Amino acid sequence: MIKYIGSKRALLGQVGMAIQAILPDGGRVCDLFSGSARVGHHLKKMGYQVWSNDHNAYAHTLATAYVQADRERWLEKTGTVLEELRQVTPEAGWFTRNFCEEARFFHPENGARIDAMRERIERMDLEPELKAVVLVALMEAADRVDSTAGLQMAYMKQWAPRALKPLQLRLPDILPAVPSGPCVATHADAVAIASQIEAGLVYLDPPYNQHSYLANYHCWESLVLWDKPETYGVARKRVDVRSRKSDFNSKPRIKAALASVIDNLHAPNLVISFNDEGYLSREDMEALLGRRGNVQVIEIPRPRYVGARIGIHNLKGERVGEVGRLRNVERLFISTAKPIDLSHITTSG
Ligand SMILES: C[S@@+](CC[C@H](N)C(=O)[O-])C[C@H]1O[C@@H](n2cnc3c(N)ncnc32)[C@H](O)[C@@H]1O
Repeated sequence: MIKYIGSKRALLGQVGMAIQAILPDGGRVCDLFSGSARVGHHLKKMGYQVWSNDHNAYAHTLATAYVQADRERWLEKTGTVLEELRQVTPEAGWFTRNFCEEARFFHPENGARIDAMRERIERMDLEPELKAVVLVALMEAADRVDSTAGLQMAYMKQWAPRALKPLQLRLPDILPAVPSGPCVATHADAVAIASQIEAGLVYLDPPYNQHSYLANYHCWESLVLWDKPETYGVARKRVDVRSRKSDFNSKPRIKAALASVIDNLHAPNLVISFNDEGYLSREDMEALLGRRGNVQVIEIPRPRYVGARIGIHNLKGERVGEVGRLRNVERLFISTAKPIDLSHITTSG
């Protein structure tokens, strides 16, 4: 799966255990801010009927592949399409010009492979789920040979060693259907869709600060949409990064946005991830959830993201500062009708 800041890869065990403690007999779970789709993938593997949602197109594509698409339906067809894509002749185009020449996120030889494969995918006229699985294979292949520290806001001064390796397509780990019913992926603003969600439990993992996911992962958005937009700045971001904003990236707006989501959801149980560095404090979250009934909090200390640990650098890649904190606390806020026994969930970092 792709590198994704804020991904709950390291917390899947705790999130899964908390959800299982609340819904031991299965049921439908909605992941309203699905990002890399790792959480939805994990929950589908556990047998839940998952509904994943995110407002960015690349995240919706990831969730379509990892949550909505069923392995038995698409495995063979995906293998055939990937084999055809492995044979295409590289040809530099929009992606190479923007992300390998004007910016240096990928080596131009891989850029030419990505351009040629992406053009071929567009001409294949694939069914939407199959197209999503194939796009995820291409996104992950590109992610394995990128020259970044995991964000598409800046690139390495020298090519990262992995960027010099040739891009290789692999089959994404799509999962078999679950007996509890079809899983779905939607592509909507969380505030707008909240009142339509029907689920036994909703998991909320919103952004917690000003950093826009669209800006951080703009190459994936352009790769998936393939709309070849005008770009700007050193990172060659798509121009709509300036206008497509989330209320969850705004200090003055996040509390009202989250309150609106929480109040409009038709779900008896909520689990919310939020760490101790975000715009909302533990007390803010407890107050937002307190109106619904019982609230429990699990605290999990974690090492901070790699960018924090390697220090602050300027655009020339020179180290210009240190970061004070190397650890933070990830919190799970659990809102249920009655208190749940969560004592078996380990919280060591
Ligand atoms: C912290 S990340 C989620 C990470 C995810 N749980 C994972 O493990 O990869 C937050 C996600 O919220 C999405 N997002 C931000 N604002 C949103 C909004 N208003 N509606 C829906 N999704 C939004 C972002 O695109 C991003 O993928």
